Amino acid sequence: MQEPGERSSTMETNYWRYLKTEELLALQTGLNEDESGVGNDEMLFIVVHQIYELWFKLILRELTLARNALNTALPHDHRVAPVVRSIRRAIVVFEQANQHFRLIETMTTRDFLDFRDALVPASGFQSAQMREIEILLGLEDHERISLGKRCFRDALKEADGTPSSADRRVQARIAQGPSFKHCLYEWLSRLPIAGASEAASVDGFIGDYLRAIRDENRKRLRTFVERGASPDGVESLRARLRADESDTEAYLRAEDDPEADAATRAQRRAIRAALLYVESYRERAELGWPRELVEAVLDFEQAFVIWRQRHARMVERIIGRRVGTGGSSGVDYLDATALRYRVFSELWAIRSLLLRKAAVPALDPVLEDR
Ligand code: HEM
Repeated sequence: MQEPGERSSTMETNYWRYLKTEELLALQTGLNEDESGVGNDEMLFIVVHQIYELWFKLILRELTLARNALNTALPHDHRVAPVVRSIRRAIVVFEQANQHFRLIETMTTRDFLDFRDALVPASGFQSAQMREIEILLGLEDHERISLGKRCFRDALKEADGTPSSADRRVQARIAQGPSFKHCLYEWLSRLPIAGASEAASVDGFIGDYLRAIRDENRKRLRTFVERGASPDGVESLRARLRADESDTEAYLRAEDDPEADAATRAQRRAIRAALLYVESYRERAELGWPRELVEAVLDFEQAFVIWRQRHARMVERIIGRRVGTGGSSGVDYLDATALRYRVFSELWAIRSLLLRKAAVPALDPVLEDR
């Protein structure tokens, strides 16, 4: 079998053969398969899209590697290092890719309108690799914004409804196994809290954290009174803090979703406790890699959200509030995806509950010694 990097032919290697430059440069022929009929603005449009698809390819590779490694990594295991490295690379790719929208913006509305109508119904909505990234990350079908009766898979079919290469690609991705989110949450739910991995330690830790939140709120209220707040002001703060405490308790004890079964609730409790633990005791040696991982995943999702927002602003600038060639409402749809497509919602939600360092509960010394 051929090893990576091993040469399969005796032909001399050179730049153009290795990178297939002639094949690559012959791919910008537009709808009429004739590059001479493609103007400079359309050439820019095609090239930037093609470059994006290559960036998406790299991101998919890194996320696949990260998912597979995480699927086998144990808590605290240094094998998390390659997961973090892959995600960090994917973040840099996204950040680079975000710059390309500036390049598209060198094209004016009038320039784009010259060739836009000929593209209907083609749209970025049909980018199979974008859907693969979302699926691999763990965006679920029911979380997608509906475009009338059409689901995103319908847009990947040929005009007569038969499967296309894009649809097959997405199908293969779905068949390839669990999402990154699934593996990350499984991994977090196994993370021992202060050395103990039983459910009792999770519940005990959550109880301690809730008490620390209540203590902190009492201090806040006292300071408010000492600063001369009006009785109405104090009452309204007290009511708000009580409501927050009750929401926080329901969330940490995973009682916020009445539909969830007991096993799902137990897993959510463990994930939420693990995130609180990682974020609150960051200096502990055994939390070095978990902390890096959580931070990298958050950075990645942030870069993705910024991609969505940046794309929407570029679209607004170029086509205004027109409907998209793919049949969506256009900018409103894109803004809605930026707002609602959060795969790692647990990682974001926990941040509203974190306490300052001096207020976090001391860890149980019995568990600490294990
Ligand atoms: C003049 C430039 C562009 C315009 C006017 C534009 C416009 C739009 C619009 C209106 C949509 C919503 C779907 C629809 O109804 O068509 C969309 C979706 C999309 N576009 Fe663009 N786009 C442009 C450039 C790009 C580029 C350079 C990329 C890079 C790959 C891209 C990738 C996507 C993707 C992935 C979606 C699907 C988003 C989702 O469903 O979450 N677009 N685009």
